[in-house]
Amino acid sequence: MNQPTMNVMISADDISQKVKELGQKINEHYKDSDKELILIGLLRGSVIFMSDLCRAIDKPHEIDFMTVSSYADGSTVSSKNVKILKDLDSSIAGKDVLIVEDIIDSGHTLAKVMQMLQTREPNSIELCTLVSKPSRREIQIDVRFLGFEVEDKFIVGYGLDYDQKYRHLPFIGEIGL
Ligand code: IMP
Ligand code: MG
Repeated sequence: MNQPTMNVMISADDISQKVKELGQKINEHYKDSDKELILIGLLRGSVIFMSDLCRAIDKPHEIDFMTVSSYADGSTVSSKNVKILKDLDSSIAGKDVLIVEDIIDSGHTLAKVMQMLQTREPNSIELCTLVSKPSRREIQIDVRFLGFEVEDKFIVGYGLDYDQKYRHLPFIGEIGL
């Protein structure tokens, strides 16, 4: 199998530094809340980011995951129909919910997920995304904790995939197909 060329956009060191900073901001944000904190990762893209981010947060917290459909396999275009394929195992009622996402593109996935989770009466819902592509936004989303803003390029690595591949790369890169 031919390996496609990969241009590093965000190095492993830069990601690691940013994750530490995000952890500190999250610690600061929730330090006075007496509610339970729960981090919710969207599968599968957020797993790598989640595993590093949760270890940068001092406040005791739960982690849980949900799977929602957005892209068809092999497509680089988001669909607007977002469905829950795997729901949370935990209740979020009365808790401080922090959604952990790999990347926000059009914003439709997050808008739908936040709307669905809001009906479960959490104490608060905030969003932490490692990457955002603001020029692609079709719906307004409030991102409380943001790692990197990138231009409109399809990127892979550190959890991000193309057709389920390249999630294992320690850096974020642009794939030359
Ligand atoms: P949205 O609903 O358009 O915001 O899509 C968000 C989801 O699309 C993310 O959670 C990713 O799974 C996926 N996605 C968006 N852009 C990229 C990219 O550049 N590389 C890999 N996945 C992406
Ligand atoms: Mg995703």
